[in-house]
Amino acid sequence: MEKKNTAQLEELQALRERALQGGGADRIAKQHAKGKLTARERLEKLLDPGTFQELQSFMITPGEGQVTPGDGVVTGYGELDGRTVYVYAQDFTVYGGSVSLTHARKICRIMDLAVSSGCPVIGLLDSGGARIQEGIRALQGYGEIFRRNALASGIIPQISVTLGPCAGGASYSPALTDFVIMTNKTSVMFITGPNVVKSVTGEIITQEALGGAMAHFTKSGVASLVGQNEEDSLALVRKLLSYLPSNNVETPPCAPTGDDPNRSEERLNTIIPEKPNIPYEMHEVIELIVDQGSFFEVQSGWAPNAIVGFARLDGNAVGIVAQQPMYLAGVIDINASDKISRFVRFCDAFNIPLITFVDSPGFLPGPLQEHGGIIRHGAKIIYAYVEASVPKISIVTRKGYGGAYIVMGSKSLGADLHLAWPSAELAVMGPQGAVNILKRRELARAKDPQALRAELVADYRKKFSNPYRAAEYGILDAVIEPAKTRPTLIAALRALREPVRQLPPKKHGVMPV
Ligand code: HXC
Repeated sequence: MEKKNTAQLEELQALRERALQGGGADRIAKQHAKGKLTARERLEKLLDPGTFQELQSFMITPGEGQVTPGDGVVTGYGELDGRTVYVYAQDFTVYGGSVSLTHARKICRIMDLAVSSGCPVIGLLDSGGARIQEGIRALQGYGEIFRRNALASGIIPQISVTLGPCAGGASYSPALTDFVIMTNKTSVMFITGPNVVKSVTGEIITQEALGGAMAHFTKSGVASLVGQNEEDSLALVRKLLSYLPSNNVETPPCAPTGDDPNRSEERLNTIIPEKPNIPYEMHEVIELIVDQGSFFEVQSGWAPNAIVGFARLDGNAVGIVAQQPMYLAGVIDINASDKISRFVRFCDAFNIPLITFVDSPGFLPGPLQEHGGIIRHGAKIIYAYVEASVPKISIVTRKGYGGAYIVMGSKSLGADLHLAWPSAELAVMGPQGAVNILKRRELARAKDPQALRAELVADYRKKFSNPYRAAEYGILDAVIEPAKTRPTLIAALRALREPVRQLPPKKHGVMPV
């Protein structure tokens, strides 16, 4: 009996060792030579030490004479800062991490378990896309992953980390997840690579220029964050998850920071320049208000006229949305609309209250924006704020003009608390534009149009460009001293908690995507 048991254990051990070899020592050495870790090494770095539990490590594609157990993907669960997460890591040493039906089904198994257990799912991607020799079965596999990505959306956080190529289908699954973390100079994502581009359009472009981390961080908006190397990318997952609940029925974890909730900041009383066209750094405003060092911006390289990110107020996670006056004066364009609306929807899905800092001078004018569909894209911001049922607080720091003000989580769209600093200017449009329209004839007739314009602008400013009309009408709930913004927000969040909001039942709305 003892002999039989020993033989069984030896067989198990041999199979395990075979699975651990992946695509073999040569290919592992090649992976290391490129400065890349193997799938298992990455999981070790990502998770709390010793917590990874592998599943389905012996699965192969049946009948293909395949001898690589695990089929090019390592799947399982483990802990990250003591919380369970489900993970998969593609093994580039096995058929270039390409996706077969078996490979896909292993990923699907993890996603199913993540949803039924209410835990985040993290994918570490390094893949040549659909396994070419599998044909339609590989495509079927991808479809099964995409279906799960869509169905899990809004139930559990889904995070993709790209650590190598993500070609073809390999880029769609990340696109369906909530955050894509790319790795500088290591990961590339594209639907069709440089060779296809050359044969179809004749254009010659490198992989890096076409789909490298910086291209997707600054040009396409696909990358939410960029790690400088693999370790950095994996550390970003840990940081990001620290702000997120494990699922849509939990509240985000509270992490006391020791920052005084009553801290007031005199600097905020002087941060808005006297001249309305002089910019100021909205990051400084945010950093002075939230718990020290807690602001974690996402998508900072794309549409920098809008700022989105997570922070803590008295230890509790909040989502921050803001204009950035330092870039394009903070106007809203197509990309800013997409960036803001997606972030608002994410925060709402995962019970993260929204704090919106408004300095919104307008939508970016011009045929490029109009023909690109700024109307359709801008409408998404309205849609996202209106549907959001988390506590919503908006603070107008300076400009709140016209539609660009209304869309930014205004009272009319359902802000729970609408605040302003004394520097706020709430009007249909800026004084210059308004005077040019309303006083066109007087200005044309004037002996000294410059002097008259200055006078009319000053008059308009006095009448409309202040927060007090809005306060008189009850549109603003309070005009506050900027220095006291932090304690005001913390008290407001305590008072608001989770407002009860019931929309009439429907299958779903039709967001203007
Ligand atoms: C099978 C693949 C593969 C694939 C790579 N390999 N991609 N095997 N199917 N899709 C294998 C290679 O044959 C090689 O095997 C090993 O993986 C490593 O690949 P290399 O080319 O040596 O590595 P590298 O130079 O780093 O280039 C990586 C790469 C390149 C950029 C990913 O391999 C590549 O362009 N692959 C094809 C990408 C692609 O077009 N995929 C199909 C997309 S279509 P050996 O034995 O030599 O180690 C798609 C449709 C899905 O995905 C649609 C879903 C709806």
